[in-house]
Formats: sequence, structure tokens, C-alpha cells
Amino acid sequence: MRGLRVENLHVRVGPNTVLQGVSLDVKPGEIHALMGPNGSGKSTLAYAIMGREIFDVPGGRIILDGEDITGLPTYERALKGIFLAMQEPPEIPGVRMSSFLIAIKNKSMGETDDLFKLRDPRFLVQLRKLINKVGLPSNVLQREVNRGFSGGEKKRSELLQALIIDPKYLLLDEPDSGLDVDGVRTVASILREKKEEGKGILLITHYTRMFNFIEPDRISILYKGRIVATGGMELAKTIDEVGYKGLIKRLGINGEG
Ligand SMILES: Nc1ncnc2c1ncn2[C@@H]1O[C@H](COP(=O)(O)OP(=O)(O)O)[C@@H](O)[C@H]1O
Ligand SMILES: [Mg+2]
Repeated sequence: MRGLRVENLHVRVGPNTVLQGVSLDVKPGEIHALMGPNGSGKSTLAYAIMGREIFDVPGGRIILDGEDITGLPTYERALKGIFLAMQEPPEIPGVRMSSFLIAIKNKSMGETDDLFKLRDPRFLVQLRKLINKVGLPSNVLQREVNRGFSGGEKKRSELLQALIIDPKYLLLDEPDSGLDVDGVRTVASILREKKEEGKGILLITHYTRMFNFIEPDRISILYKGRIVATGGMELAKTIDEVGYKGLIKRLGINGEG
């Protein structure tokens, strides 16, 4: 069965249980938006799907196209077709963008050695097109990975990596934060394209701004480590009108739960 599915996932970070039995799925060709107030566990869920090791996962499963990947290390999950565009992309001092992007291309093609070797010069042509598409300056290839990039440039850089790897499932953690309105349009048009190609997208955001440019197929609300509602654009509308607090109240959920 195709789809990326999270089943009853519990995640502990240090002494805190951050996710308390989260279930959610993303189907091929679907944009599933995950919304929730600050600290509700959205990024933790994204990291847990990728298998970040600092987290303790005492319960639950992650199923990728029918295969249980719960115990797999991050790189294997990536090779199987999941990509996370992080909320706060890290800088990698000393590594040039050009080398880095060649390496991730090689890795995604299943190469295991000489990762920094350019195997096909046509990749450079593709790369220039993609750099233009995400709206980064062409000299970005000479710079160190994300070093000194503005917040918006880091987001565009994550998007560039996603386009190079072209995964089956794309997790985007607040791709709109720090982006100007042109950047938001760029993200939306790339998501539309990926959706049409049949890719599954988990779009994490706490604002509804993105939805002016691309409407999600479903919206789920994460609150205090639990999914408290799944629905359509009416949820976004409620959030805009009365905020998360108002939404939670309307859903009849005990805020201290
Ligand atoms: N490495 C960590 N150490 C301690 N607490 C953490 C860590 N990562 C996340 N948390 C806590 O888990 C909760 C959820 O965080 P996060 O998933 O980043 O929320 P969101 O992305 O929804 O804003 C927060 O209370 C946060 O402080
Ligand atoms: Mg977050």
C-alpha cells in the first residue's frame, strides 16, 4: 500500500513526552498540511519520521509504502525516498555548495564512493536551472553550505536540495518562514509541480499564508503532542478567525490535557 504512514507514534525528548500517540498519513499526490501552535511537536514529528537519533521512540511505527522503517537509520530512510527540509537548516562550514550538491546527487543515485566526483557534466546544467528556479544567485555554488545565508536563502537552499534528490515524500518544516512573498510563491509553485508528479507532501506551517497560493488536500492540527482534528480549509479559516486557542476551545479540548 502506497503512502507514508505514522501510527500511534510516541516520542520522548529527554524527560518530556513530546508526541503522545500521533497517527497521520500522506498519500502520493497529496498535500497534507500539519498545523499547530509553537511547541506542539510539529518539528519533532518531522525529525522522528526521518529517524533523528536523539529521540527516544517508545511506541508506534512508521510505514513507507507498506514497509516498516521504524528502526532504520536516517540515511536509509532518505535513500528510500523521504526528504526533510528543516525548519532551521544547518550551516556546514568548509564545504562548498557545489561539492555538497554533487555529493547528495551521487548519494541519491546510489553511489557509495567518490561522492564528490562529478560523474555527468549535464548535472551542472540541471543545477543552474534549479538554482534559478528556487531563486538563489548563481554564485551560490562557490559559497559554503548555508554559511551566512539569510533565513530565506537557507529555505531556498533546502528546496534546491529537495529538487536535486527528488524524493517520493517531501516533509517541509515551515518552508515559508523567513521568505518574502515571491519566495512563498516559488515554494507554492514547486509544491504544485511535485504534487502533479505524484509526490506526497507533508507541509508543516503555523500560518495559513501559504494556502493563498496552494491549497492543501487535508489539514491536521497537532496540539500538545496529539492530532486533535483533521479536515479541510475550514480549519485554516477558523485559525485565522479565532487563533489556535479559539480552535481548541471550539473542538472542546481541555487546554491543560
Ligand atoms: N532537543 C530537545 N530538548 C528538549 N526539549 C525539546 C527538544 N526538542 C524539542 N523539545 C521540546 O518539544 C516540544 C515540541 O517542540 P517542537 O517539535 O520543536 O515544536 P513545534 O515545531 O511544533 O514548534 C517543545 O516543548 C520543545 O521545547
Ligand atoms: Mg517547529
